[in-house]
Amino acid sequence: LRIAVLFGGRSQEHEVSILSATNVVSALDPHKYETVPIFVTHEGRWLVSRFEDGRLSRPASGTELCLLPGGEGRMLSIQPDGAMRDAGKIDILFPVLHGPHGEDGSVQGLADVARVPLVGCGILGSATALDKEIAKRLLTAAGLPVARAITIRKGEAPTLPELEEKLGSPLFIKPARQGSSVGVAKVSGSQEFGPAITEAFRHDDKLLAEEFFPGREIECSVLEAPDGSLFISRPGEIAPAESHGFYSYDAKYIDAEGAALKVPAELPEEIESEIRAMAARAFRALGCDAMARVDFFLSADMRFVVNEVNTIPGFTDISMYAKAMAASGVPYAEVLDRLVEHGLA
Ligand code: DAL
Ligand code: MG
Repeated sequence: LRIAVLFGGRSQEHEVSILSATNVVSALDPHKYETVPIFVTHEGRWLVSRFEDGRLSRPASGTELCLLPGGEGRMLSIQPDGAMRDAGKIDILFPVLHGPHGEDGSVQGLADVARVPLVGCGILGSATALDKEIAKRLLTAAGLPVARAITIRKGEAPTLPELEEKLGSPLFIKPARQGSSVGVAKVSGSQEFGPAITEAFRHDDKLLAEEFFPGREIECSVLEAPDGSLFISRPGEIAPAESHGFYSYDAKYIDAEGAALKVPAELPEEIESEIRAMAARAFRALGCDAMARVDFFLSADMRFVVNEVNTIPGFTDISMYAKAMAASGVPYAEVLDRLVEHGLA
């Protein structure tokens, strides 16, 4: 089975995607799969990559690839001298891309146009989950608890006191469509507010000001079977180091001791079942299929909110999706097998 793995990509999570894809490609059973790694540059071009000595190459230029519309996986390669060749067929496309232009329905739409099976969530669930404003509306409509938020669009300039009156203090400023906490800041006073807004607008035209919901960060993996039934993992917990204040980009990927993972999380039985049931409801509410990781905050008095749903969750060494699945009896390679099976069904 020829599986094309897309990695890199146009989003701010380009580097995170490389870490994720390296783990995915390492875990794909070579007896079952012929992996075709494709490096997506910052500009969005698809370049032939290789997996050697545990590393994926990231060429600056070289042979480009494209998927033919309606081609059921047929690809065309374009050599640096412009010569075009038939690059054979892939059986399934696995975008290991995080954030906009990869996790947001765009590449999923491309797979549909190309009529090639896709690993992971389809167009609608990808698009709704990646947009934190739209996701909150759908989660709220489904009766799921979320942290209160106010949307800020380009050109709008609410003052901090106006936001604090509705959301309290401190509050978070977040780009609406980013992952890995890129551009996210915790704001406790006016001197932090301006820079937080400026920085967040560098990453998106739409922001959320969100209430700070103090609590433990709990995450649950969801994996859909080809018959539509959902496997919900046991929840895991992420404890960011005190020094980081919250689970920021640096706490995730830069600082090796930025966060500790506890899988499964220590939770009272009834809270664990409630969280698992909520993960399934959140997955359905956003129109997801195949896979997602649902992130929660759990307060000291055991109230919780759904923070977000990630349809291409991280597969880095510190990411929860595969760890929570493994702690629930489904090892990494089998998660990938089941995802491929789902995509082909
Ligand atoms: N957006 C990152 C990759 C995650 O949710 O794991
Ligand atoms: Mg998260």
